[in-house]
Amino acid sequence: MKITVVGAGAVGATCADNIARKELCTELVLLDIKEGVAEGKAMDMMQTATLLGFDTKIIGSTNDYSKTAGTDVAVITSGIPRKPGMTREELIGINAGIVKTVTQNILQHSPNAIIVIISNPMDTMTYLALKSSGIPKNRIIGMGGILDSSRFKYYLSTAIGCTATDLQAVVVGGHGDTTMIPLARLATYQGTPVADFLSADALKKVVADTMVGGATLTGLLGTSAWYAPGAAGAALVESIVRDEKKLFPCCVYLEGEYGQKDICIGVPVIIGKNGWEKIVDYKLNDEEQAAFSKSADAVRVMNDVLATLNV
Ligand code: LAC
Repeated sequence: MKITVVGAGAVGATCADNIARKELCTELVLLDIKEGVAEGKAMDMMQTATLLGFDTKIIGSTNDYSKTAGTDVAVITSGIPRKPGMTREELIGINAGIVKTVTQNILQHSPNAIIVIISNPMDTMTYLALKSSGIPKNRIIGMGGILDSSRFKYYLSTAIGCTATDLQAVVVGGHGDTTMIPLARLATYQGTPVADFLSADALKKVVADTMVGGATLTGLLGTSAWYAPGAAGAALVESIVRDEKKLFPCCVYLEGEYGQKDICIGVPVIIGKNGWEKIVDYKLNDEEQAAFSKSADAVRVMNDVLATLNV
């Protein structure tokens, strides 16, 4: 098994670190455009192998895609992150060209690779990668919902006063501050609705905090977060390479599911060795479905920007 992570910035390097620690592959390539950075981070990580006890071989590469040949799963984190006060959508002008080129380069050397997109604006970058490459839809997966759901569980656990691992909670819709939809009605504390443990106002605050979870961290850090985005990317890769069939909210191409067509947006899917294998119908109520349609409208506006860019 061979995995490539493109982009050796904070998110890409953290994702690679998690992949190595979990020994998800025999060979892991970390690639970046900046001279020496990927080689340096790969070497630094390799020097943790005896300390952490993993045998995955990590290879750094400055933009040499021949080293990625034979990749089974590629994670694309390339592009610029957001600065405090910026939305993910404002990154489109720069990141679209980068994501398209990286996707082409990966597929040139690994035509059968499954592609995971983390670069922002993630929903539109997933759509762009799919449309520009023409590969089967099941092999292009945007990672946003796993991260947002993990943040949702964090805020819920803080409000309830329980461990986050006892919670089940899912965020669907776009990966944007105003487009994501934390599904509070379906969230449970070991099977019991979280509404039994929180007041309506407290639950509303958890939902609001989750939606701006990334922006809160950007404000604190001066750049976007990396521990949870990197770990969420690795969790997605893990379900693919171990064929776990995990049910994760991911950004995938819809053809009528959830009332939407010709769009990539977050819905619950089963993730296994073929990429995303099945979309699960959560049977949203009217209010949730209306929020989902509104979210899709906003993602579509962003997708339309692609036509105005020279990519
Ligand atoms: C975040 C970025 C990675 O939400 O989208 O932190």
